[in-house]
Amino acid sequence: MDILEKLKNDFKNDYEKLLTNPDNLEEIKNKYLSRKGLIPTAMSKIRDIEPEKRRDFGQGCNALKEEVTKKLGDLENKIKKEEKLKKLKEESFDINLPSDNLVLGNNHPLAIIVDMIKEYFKKEGYEINEGPEIESDYFNFEMMNIPKNHPARAMQDSFYFDENLLLRTHTSPVQARVMQERKGRPIKLICPGKVYRKDEEDATHSHQFMQVEGLVLGSGINFLSLKNTLLNFLKHLFGSKTKIRLRPSYFPFTEPSIEVDMTYEKDGKEKYIEILGAGMVHPNVLKMSGYNPKKIKGFAFGIGIERIAMLYYGINDIRYFYQNDIRFLDQFKEHIR
Ligand code: DAH
Repeated sequence: MDILEKLKNDFKNDYEKLLTNPDNLEEIKNKYLSRKGLIPTAMSKIRDIEPEKRRDFGQGCNALKEEVTKKLGDLENKIKKEEKLKKLKEESFDINLPSDNLVLGNNHPLAIIVDMIKEYFKKEGYEINEGPEIESDYFNFEMMNIPKNHPARAMQDSFYFDENLLLRTHTSPVQARVMQERKGRPIKLICPGKVYRKDEEDATHSHQFMQVEGLVLGSGINFLSLKNTLLNFLKHLFGSKTKIRLRPSYFPFTEPSIEVDMTYEKDGKEKYIEILGAGMVHPNVLKMSGYNPKKIKGFAFGIGIERIAMLYYGINDIRYFYQNDIRFLDQFKEHIR
């Protein structure tokens, strides 16, 4: 058998063995292809071949070299691929597992307070309602007994989209919205939400803030119901020793109207701070939204949520709520629910 045939046969055998035991791949590669391997060695012996057979021999050697290179290369790629797959399988991990250094966010302090308020009133049988932040002049003012050119509008300047559309200045318009829907039936609701005013910003004023509106309409609702509702709510939030003080006030949508101050401690002394506005719903407000003031009465209140949050947490500047400073927000982490 000539050298070339023998080489081909040998390689065929070696290759078959490799298929079942690929560990020897490197060794076989060297055996045939390295500088002193079988194929280069055979090629270097071309001069020993009879001249007329040299051409075939040379071509045969080159073809064999090509075949061996390709077969071994393919095998190597296949093995590498299999190894990679095996590794991927072995190293697979559950992407749902939390990372060790996951940075968890937390609820905003105002959201925490709103949740507490909602929870309390829900238990007291109130429905939680919502109104749009972009409100019409009709609901924001007219239906709240604040007609055009009423001086109360001056205190509630806002951001207007056009003559009739503005960012609501209070949550009170939701009163009229719900009344018009319920058509004379009793109502017991709160509505927390954002409100906007064109105000100079300082430690106690922000162009954006939050309120929670309350409205209770029914027969037999009187001023005492209002006082007890507010007192119980504030005691729930700030402790049973909390006292309130009612001052006569004026709102176009209530008659009589009050402002409510609440006790808090400052430097070991008991002080009062204004916390909300309230009153008995004005007959005009009832009438305009389809209620008969002779049959149904009720009270309403509007609480400043930032004020509550500032007292609750001991925060002295309203602007902290809106600056999104992570050093401030991080301090409310323990309240994650
Ligand atoms: N809407 C009032 C304000 O933004 C707050 C308020 C006062 C709401 C008395 C009421 C209320 O429902 O009865 O200043």
